[in-house]
Amino acid sequence: MKAAEARVLLTGARGGIGQAMARALLGAGVAVMGVGRATAPPALVASGMHWLQADLITAQGVADVATGAEAWGANVVVHAAGVPAFGPLANEPAWRLDEVVRTNLLAPMLLTRQMLPRLLARPRAQIVFVGSALGRIGLPGFSVYGASKSGLHGFAEALRRELGGSSVRVQVLAPRSTRTPFNDAAVEAYNRATSTAMDSPELVAQALLRLIESEAPERFIGFPERLAVRLNGALGALLDRSFVKHRRHLHAAPAAPDAQGSRT
Ligand SMILES: NC(=O)c1ccc[n+]([C@@H]2O[C@H](COP(=O)([O-])OP(=O)(O)OC[C@H]3O[C@@H](n4cnc5c(N)ncnc54)[C@H](OP(=O)(O)O)[C@@H]3O)[C@@H](O)[C@H]2O)c1
Repeated sequence: MKAAEARVLLTGARGGIGQAMARALLGAGVAVMGVGRATAPPALVASGMHWLQADLITAQGVADVATGAEAWGANVVVHAAGVPAFGPLANEPAWRLDEVVRTNLLAPMLLTRQMLPRLLARPRAQIVFVGSALGRIGLPGFSVYGASKSGLHGFAEALRRELGGSSVRVQVLAPRSTRTPFNDAAVEAYNRATSTAMDSPELVAQALLRLIESEAPERFIGFPERLAVRLNGALGALLDRSFVKHRRHLHAAPAAPDAQGSRT
């Protein structure tokens, strides 16, 4: 839909990508209601952004966001909230697997389920899931995160087909690595060692604006990633040897201390 018609509910609006998206949307004249666990960034409020404070991995948080967004008249939902996980699987505490799947996969599924009847009643609506190149290309060190995003891509694809012919478009925006607090020093070192490109959050935000206007089913950011996604889909097992460098670097990196090791 045209930017002027959009009223966007944006989760993850305090994050690196989320704030860039909010700025770009507001700058294009789009009405934005942001969601975050803490208070809104003052500069975005000053620019006219509405705000809902909620923790999306709680049932109450999902219900509050759905109710608030519906009352406000949201016709576009952008699911950008997410948490990272990087490192060898054996180093990941069990609670982190739970948190990653609940935040990156289950929360957007539950929020979408709750909002869908009202979105279907609107003349036009769009649901944008922020996926990841790592949701279609499994990389060493990203088994947990990649699984959550792969699940999200699968959910979006099936829902897009389920809602075909309705007034609701389902879309996926899949960034590659992006310079935000999401990526710690270990990820940045891995990216340097494996010559992985990193984008600015502003570039991702511009891609979101284009995606909303185009109503295209999906957009992967970066030509090498788009090509790799296609090759991986067709010849996945044959590409396994391409990631030896990634694996070597992962094993060379020291294990991250488990700051919350008492949780299982
Ligand atoms: N950065 C990258 O390299 C990259 C690449 C591909 C895809 N992505 C995806 O892009 C999205 C945004 O990433 P980012 O780089 O902007 O990350 P970020 O800076 O860490 O921001 C993530 C946001 O998610 C919110 N969030 C996390 N758990 C939540 C919960 N339980 N309830 C409500 N909000 C919650 C956080 O809100 P609070 O601030 O309120 O805590 C935070 O603002 C994520 O889905 C990520 O998976 C990122």
